[in-house]
Amino acid sequence: MINFTFRNDTKIIFGKGTEEQIGTEVEKYGKKVLLHYGGGSIKKYGLYDRVLRSLKDEGLEIIELGGVRPNPVLSMVNKGIDICRREKIDFIIAVGGGSTIDSAKTIALGVPYSGDVWDFYEGRTEPEEIIPVGVVLTIPASGSESSDSAVITNEDGMYKKGFTNELLRPEFAILNPEITYTLPPYQTACGSSDMMAHVMERYFTTVSDVELTDRLCEATLKTIISNTLKVLEEPENYSARAEIMWSGTIAHNNLLDTGRIGDWASHKIEMEISGLYDIAHGAGLAIIFPAWMEYVYKKDINRFARFAVEVWNVEYDFNDVEKAAIAGIKKLKSFFKEIGLPITLKEAKIPYNSFEEMARKCTEWGAVGNFVRLETDDVIKILEIAK
Ligand code: NZQ
Ligand code: ZN
Repeated sequence: MINFTFRNDTKIIFGKGTEEQIGTEVEKYGKKVLLHYGGGSIKKYGLYDRVLRSLKDEGLEIIELGGVRPNPVLSMVNKGIDICRREKIDFIIAVGGGSTIDSAKTIALGVPYSGDVWDFYEGRTEPEEIIPVGVVLTIPASGSESSDSAVITNEDGMYKKGFTNELLRPEFAILNPEITYTLPPYQTACGSSDMMAHVMERYFTTVSDVELTDRLCEATLKTIISNTLKVLEEPENYSARAEIMWSGTIAHNNLLDTGRIGDWASHKIEMEISGLYDIAHGAGLAIIFPAWMEYVYKKDINRFARFAVEVWNVEYDFNDVEKAAIAGIKKLKSFFKEIGLPITLKEAKIPYNSFEEMARKCTEWGAVGNFVRLETDDVIKILEIAK
């Protein structure tokens, strides 16, 4: 296990009816709030009215900015920054999933910064301050509700990039599993794929003697797998929705990578796909993660065999460890297929003509991944496997 500092300051408020607490939570930070949300699901299913009521009950002044689209874009962020400056906003509330939360986080970064907020994503500077952000989560997936990062697409060149900084952790996140009953099966599946990917990025490490976090990762993966199958059968199964929702936060709040070094190549490659072709991040990961596994598993066959045995109940064959390793990858693919996700680029209707462009953008700051360092050519080969 390597040295680490673990910190996660996001207050989690979990359970039935908890969105009613939003007013009292926000009121501690000021009087004027920006209410940021996506394409309308929160209005359709009544969450918007409940949030608004709670905020009004505390006498808060509300300015709204809806319309965040999946794979959120910089132009929306800049619009939000202008509004916040003009209206002298004290606090930003994101009601939605990763896209809305990341848009809110980036607006919050941009307001006190005199330059272009994209500077942070280009690595030109680090932030010194941020407007506080709070979250009402509607889709467990990205883990952005308590993560230290945000992902935005700059339409100028379609660059989808992430930025990480402790300041990006929300002040609080309200997680009511009931709110997720309305998720379409495909979005539920995409969310599960994303949170599984967050765990697997951490699981495939070259750091040895990390037994506790190995076991925590395996437990989180097994919980997501069994409960995803349950909610696809029974969308209003509270217990199963709750297990998934909490798993999504645990998967990406940095607890699972304490003492180890994660990989993150699959995420970097996927971001090129969803940046360019606007597919759901979780769907892109269902295609790329197994392809990455097939490309790198020989680096540590035992770790892949352990993944197969502990997560997928594959039988361990002492005479042929590689067989178990490969069986685990196959199980992962079958699971993604079973829950309705694409597992090839073809199934997702992604053309094959931009592999070089995606690989070049993905590696523009150097090799990606830690389990195996991947150069541009390696990324192209993984995209070929994903065809
Ligand atoms: O926009 P609305 O109308 O709300 O519809 C959304 C959207 O179409 C819908 N939805 C959300 N909650 C719903 C609902 N529909 C019915 N009932 C509900 N309760 O679901 C769709 C997807 O929403 P989105 O916010 O895009 O999903 P997700 O949470 O998967 O976020 C994806 C974004 O997060 C980034 C991804 O790259 C992607 O841009 N990520 C952010 C991370 C972070 N900040 O830490 C880490 C992740 O690895 C990821 O990269
Ligand atoms: Zn992700």
